[in-house]
Amino acid sequence: MKKDNLILIGFMGTGKTTVGKLITERLKWSFVDTDERIVEHTGMTIPSIFKQKGEAWFRDQESIVLEEILKGHAQVVSTGGGAVLRERNRDVMLKGGLVVALTADVDTIVKRVSEDQNRPLLHGDIRRKVEQLMAARKVAYDFAHVKLNTANYTPDELADHIIQYIGQDGKLH
Ligand code: S3P
Repeated sequence: MKKDNLILIGFMGTGKTTVGKLITERLKWSFVDTDERIVEHTGMTIPSIFKQKGEAWFRDQESIVLEEILKGHAQVVSTGGGAVLRERNRDVMLKGGLVVALTADVDTIVKRVSEDQNRPLLHGDIRRKVEQLMAARKVAYDFAHVKLNTANYTPDELADHIIQYIGQDGKLH
């Protein structure tokens, strides 16, 4: 039996936070975001971590908070888009709860991330960066228990759909 956590994975701009918060309200679980936890732990913003400490240091922090979060239960966990890159993180997620991958096409992602300056990996030519990173991560989200394309659904519809895998009683099916 998996632990009663829901772990949302997916590329930046696939709606993990929006959908995650809706599910949290309905299940009365807690919402946890790995990026937010890193900011709390380090007292630094995500862009300043990348700038001052570098991506590898950020990834170390990400692994630490992920492991710590998944010791708990009854949580909806929204993960950073790159949290799937380390095998150890993938193992921790698969053992820590139900892993649901959200996907979207390049146009949708570019539209969603364009107004946000908080993603250092997309600074500059956003479309080109999204295309390059998506190509590099083509199969990175495939390990999930469930994979959902967000393109044709509202956040509410997605939340309803994902809750069916968990059950209104908060027990994983
Ligand atoms: C990243 C995604 C971001 C954040 C960081 C790196 C990535 O999170 O962790 O900027 O490597 O895809 P979101 O997916 O929540 O934007």
